[in-house]
Amino acid sequence: MTSFSVSAPAKINLFLHVGAKRPDGFHALQSLVAFTEAGDELSFAPGDGVSLDIGGPFGKGLSAGEDNLIVRAARALGTSQGAKIVLTKNLPVASGIGGGSADCAATLRGLSKLWNLGKDSLALQKVGEELGSDVPVCITSRPQWMEGRGEILTELPSLPPLSIVLVNPGVGVPTGKVFGALKERRGVELPLPPYFTGADHLIGYLKSTSNDLEAPARMIAPEVNAVLEAIAGEGALLSRMSGSGATCFGLFATETDAKAAAEALKAAHAGWWVMPSRLLSTLV
Ligand code: C5P
Repeated sequence: MTSFSVSAPAKINLFLHVGAKRPDGFHALQSLVAFTEAGDELSFAPGDGVSLDIGGPFGKGLSAGEDNLIVRAARALGTSQGAKIVLTKNLPVASGIGGGSADCAATLRGLSKLWNLGKDSLALQKVGEELGSDVPVCITSRPQWMEGRGEILTELPSLPPLSIVLVNPGVGVPTGKVFGALKERRGVELPLPPYFTGADHLIGYLKSTSNDLEAPARMIAPEVNAVLEAIAGEGALLSRMSGSGATCFGLFATETDAKAAAEALKAAHAGWWVMPSRLLSTLV
């Protein structure tokens, strides 16, 4: 088999409610998770042993050693076969949009194909559970209702089409630190979300929810406040932080609106990473 590419779409927590800390140290969660066209890119080719090369705008300084989630994913598949893996890191690291988890999930998919392991999504999700809370949800890159530590997933039929702008102020926030600073929780009592009949319906629903990690992340990285204000100022239908931050997102009705907002944000904040994209919400 020759080389092939697998995309690792950014993961967006459209909302994230946090419940009690479990005996295993992880918190019970509820989240509506979607993915974007924007993401990292991985390529896979046969090789001797497992090797990883990293490039791309956010590749600098990343370890390509045994601690990298991509290498750990390869090891977790438990075969002695080799692979030459190249990661193009387009997403900021430690930024709440699942970069490392998406790369890990894409590796499980890519190597399952390269090595002919014949593992389906559910089997790969099971392997991914051990590697990180967000890895299982990133296996399918489709809208999911996420519960438990992140491993209990219900695939949703589709979401209304929406455009999105991702904004990161250039600060990395460690997930564990944000959970550690969490004081107020909404709990995990919501029923499965309804079938959303249109963008307005989805936005209305999201406005009744929150990201519980926003408050602790704002304390650790005050830049999050400025990012959220700036996105709202560009007329987003909803502006919110994803995951444990510090990346925030704005939802927009059209691609034109999202691109205009992104241009304005880039012009006003040269140091921020600003990425207009679309939710991968209509792919079933
Ligand atoms: O599973 P992952 O490595 O992404 O988790 C990183 C950290 O985030 C954990 O060590 C834990 O402190 C926190 N976390 C949590 N509850 C979750 C997921 C993550 O407390 N459901």
